[in-house]
Amino acid sequence: DEININVGCPSDRVQSGQFGACLMSSPELVARCVQRMRAACEIPITIKTRIGIDDDDNYEFLRNFIAVNIDAGCTTYIVHARKAILSGLSPKENRSVPPLNYPRVYRLKKEFPELRIILNGGVTSVDDCHEHLQHVDGVMIGRQAYHQPWFLTELEREFGGGGDTRSLTREGAIRKMLPYIERELAGGAELKHVTRHLLGLFAGQPGARAWRRYLSEHAHLAGAGVEVLEQALERLPCPPGSQ
Ligand SMILES: Cc1cc2nc3c(=O)[nH]c(=O)nc-3n(C[C@H](O)[C@H](O)[C@H](O)COP(=O)(O)O)c2cc1C
Repeated sequence: DEININVGCPSDRVQSGQFGACLMSSPELVARCVQRMRAACEIPITIKTRIGIDDDDNYEFLRNFIAVNIDAGCTTYIVHARKAILSGLSPKENRSVPPLNYPRVYRLKKEFPELRIILNGGVTSVDDCHEHLQHVDGVMIGRQAYHQPWFLTELEREFGGGGDTRSLTREGAIRKMLPYIERELAGGAELKHVTRHLLGLFAGQPGARAWRRYLSEHAHLAGAGVEVLEQALERLPCPPGSQ
């Protein structure tokens, strides 16, 4: 476990509360937060940050932010390898418009080898991970895990991660989730709240579109239950167990 301070979010709402990426320009304030939080709890305090903001888009700016926070005792940094543009772009645009600059993150690790540097941004394949891991300590995956949840299984198979997924199939993963989904539905959740995270499970596989469409058209209907998932599985072109 850890507590992570978000110094990466560019949204207006967050800025108006003086947190998120705008805090990159107040490294001493973040450092004071780190110190107070470290004093108040036992688990590590980490920081997620960008590589710069607006015109402060250079290595020295990032380096100074990190150096001040090292002094406060923060040793783990998750660095989204894009600057944040604090006005004129939506949070979504801020995840794709500013260009990725991986070398700036690598340089940080080179200068501060004792830190744990986790690179984030635009990582979509196992090969990408291997490439970055030659330079940094870890990789954080955002959208790829959401758009293609099976990617997490590929990562686990490649890097290990506690679970034995060798014989797991996509269909098997869904079946394993059914008791959980039934419990959630019994507790008042709606099926669509679960299935929206499963829409991309078959991405790149035969039947991906039929799966997505069936869930999109049926999971939101009143009273929808786990049978919707069973029916969606039946629409896949391959026989059960082969996915
Ligand atoms: C829908 C969505 C919500 C996000 N919310 C947060 C958040 O609350 N805090 C945060 O630090 N990053 C948040 N992010 C940003 C991700 O953590 C990550 O930095 C960003 O998506 C870039 O990584 P990726 O290219 O692997 O997706 C969010 C991203 C998405 C797509």
